[in-house]
Amino acid sequence: MYCTGVQYNTGMGNCRIGCLYVPDLPLQALLRAEPELSGAPVAVTESEGPRAVVLACSALAHRAGVGVGMTAAQARSLLAGLVVRALSAPQVRSAQAALLDAARSFSPRVALEPAGEVCLVLTGATNRDPAAFEDPDSLDLSVKRAPHLSFGLANNICLGAQLARAELRIAVGSIVSRFPTLRLEEVGQPAFRDSLFLRGLRHLHVAW
Ligand code: HEM
Repeated sequence: MYCTGVQYNTGMGNCRIGCLYVPDLPLQALLRAEPELSGAPVAVTESEGPRAVVLACSALAHRAGVGVGMTAAQARSLLAGLVVRALSAPQVRSAQAALLDAARSFSPRVALEPAGEVCLVLTGATNRDPAAFEDPDSLDLSVKRAPHLSFGLANNICLGAQLARAELRIAVGSIVSRFPTLRLEEVGQPAFRDSLFLRGLRHLHVAW
């Protein structure tokens, strides 16, 4: 499985899209269903029969000259022990569902593309995109920055955004006025949550 990242412009800023890509999805779906075939010379064809066209093949079969587009009969003539299986739609659907599950553990916004690709919005990366924000890793409250995407966008905007802003204003304002000498306590590097969707500190040590 490959993982790549691309950017697209939302009109309000750049949004990082991650792609999980499984090359040769028909073959990987078969190997997932029949793991005992891993390491064997395998070819997946579009249908049953000697004239069915090869859609994908394993590295071992490829090394023997088997290739996408040839018929099952041609492939077998090149490699006697070749295991040939017809494409199984349920196996492919099941592999795609597993890929979607993996993507959803990173982001609630995922889209399944044909040919074994899943695209996901990496919200945790959008507000630190060096292409959209100057010095994205620094926090300078005196600088007006480009619009952020912390509350989503367009049809997927957060319904509680105004409440969350009010809560933050009240909570941060109350803490600062209640503890005017509040300062960060230096206890090593702060620990962040392991999330690509929403970034945040696990804890922050302060003193007053
Ligand atoms: C700092 C606090 C918050 C942040 C960063 C935040 C962030 C977000 C984001 C990014 C989305 C869009 C997710 C997507 O792509 O589907 C969302 C959706 C939503 N949020 Fe928030 N949220 C916050 C607080 C709240 C609060 C306080 C409420 C309600 C009291 C709320 C209610 C909702 C609801 C109902 C949706 C779904 C909207 C829809 O799909 O139409 N959020 N939020």
